[in-house]
Amino acid sequence: MTEARPPGPGGVIPRLASLGEPGRAVELGDGCVIACDPGTLPVGELLRGWLSAATGWNVGVSASPDDAAPSHIRLRLDERAGAGEGYELSARDDVVTITAASPAGVFYGVQTLRLLLPPEFLRRAPAGGVAPPAGVPGLLIRDEPRLAWRGAHLDVARHFMPKQWILRLIDLLALHKLNVLHLHLTDDQGWRMEIERYPRLTEVGAWRRESPLGHSRDRRFDGVPHGGYYTKNDLREIVEYAARQFVTVVPEIDMPGHMQAAIAAYPHLGNTAEPVEVRSAWGISPQVLNLDDETVQFCRDVLDEVIDVFPGQHIHLGGDECPTQEWEHSAGAQRRMAALGLTDERFLQGWFTEQVVAHVSARGRTAVLWDEALESGAPEGTVIMSWRSDVAGWYAASAGHPVVMTPEYWTYFDWAQDRGAAEPVAIHVATSLRRVHAFDPVPPSLTPAARAGIVGAQCQLWTEYVSGPARAEYQYFPRLCAFAEVAWSPPGGEFGDFEERLAGHLARLDVLGVNYRPLAGPTPGQMRGWPAAEAGNVS
Ligand code: ACM
Repeated sequence: MTEARPPGPGGVIPRLASLGEPGRAVELGDGCVIACDPGTLPVGELLRGWLSAATGWNVGVSASPDDAAPSHIRLRLDERAGAGEGYELSARDDVVTITAASPAGVFYGVQTLRLLLPPEFLRRAPAGGVAPPAGVPGLLIRDEPRLAWRGAHLDVARHFMPKQWILRLIDLLALHKLNVLHLHLTDDQGWRMEIERYPRLTEVGAWRRESPLGHSRDRRFDGVPHGGYYTKNDLREIVEYAARQFVTVVPEIDMPGHMQAAIAAYPHLGNTAEPVEVRSAWGISPQVLNLDDETVQFCRDVLDEVIDVFPGQHIHLGGDECPTQEWEHSAGAQRRMAALGLTDERFLQGWFTEQVVAHVSARGRTAVLWDEALESGAPEGTVIMSWRSDVAGWYAASAGHPVVMTPEYWTYFDWAQDRGAAEPVAIHVATSLRRVHAFDPVPPSLTPAARAGIVGAQCQLWTEYVSGPARAEYQYFPRLCAFAEVAWSPPGGEFGDFEERLAGHLARLDVLGVNYRPLAGPTPGQMRGWPAAEAGNVS
């Protein structure tokens, strides 16, 4: 087996682990049959749906593992076929056979099969009548992920994103073999999840008066109210839709900072008597939760409803960027500090984190925290997301924490993609496609303990400057394609090879209508202004 590119349409992204000698192509066409094991039937039904919609073919699914039964695609579970989410795909002797130890592995084999077929096969209806038969190149692929947690984060608090588009995003993540969608559901500028016990969180907290216009340093506002929220059933729908494509949704309720929207809804959660609004400006609010027993109980109550809606193992409790000025001037916080024998307000966050992590653990779940939690002693077993640097992640992994690598320099997709003057306004310059592709979440220089602790990597999309789905797709793509290689493919991939495969892959994104940034730069419709602004991107 050698690392190579399959013959046929455009190359596969993320890069395959290994590919055998090419042979005779397998022809698929109208009337083709997908033979499934009982355990692969749901994946077979997904493939049938995709294939028949795009081609107009009559595609059958048979629940027959019997090799003698007529079939053109076979989906099989076999424990000998690699570990975990790996799969083997062979196309030979007129049959495409996908074998894996788990339904997830079979699903990833099916996603590879979709990439071996023409891009037109990604449409939702045939564009030119019933499609003619198509060949899958004869080959043998063995492929498996490098990392178990292959995530994409989406901030729906700074800008609300419609549910229908989140479902589409899940399709796109799964096509790129990513398996976690981290939803940042709450922040100073908006609370997006219905909580039955505290209805004002969405009645009040889901709406803000206006948003910054242009870059926040310009201190201009648009005067346009913004907001929205997901009902619990909306979120259950998202969770179930994602699960069918082996994507787990990790909810984040950010605390004790980034809570101004909740304080606007329930002022008794705050530290001052002043009424506050849901925050209109970007940046970090000084308004944080107070540390009263009732406030900790509020957090437990909210988390109970979150845990009820999101069945995955991980619940994200935020913990980033929590200013302590209010606690310095709050009699309650000072009493708490004295009772705990603490000498610095920063350690109050450590106490708070212990309370909420203990609650999540008592419910059988695992808490995830941003790397600031390390400064006041992150509780044992908590998963750390290392965003301010990669070094924090190495430290946390060495100290025994599972770590998801999220360093902003390589994985923050709210940064511009280029320094060019035409790039739309972004929070920061610039994380290029090449830089994302060069990221190694587990560099060989790490100690064995640190290497063992790094369970995954994740790209982040904060949405201060991302007002809706089209702009979100622009920020994600094509960087998400490079990130998929970081998380899935064996290390050491060449950027030049990736770029060549990407050229073919962009034809797929075109068919899917993804508003990606072309490699030559933004289209006029994507630019910051018309004509291109003279100044460089100083964001
Ligand atoms: C973060 O970017 N504040 C996690």
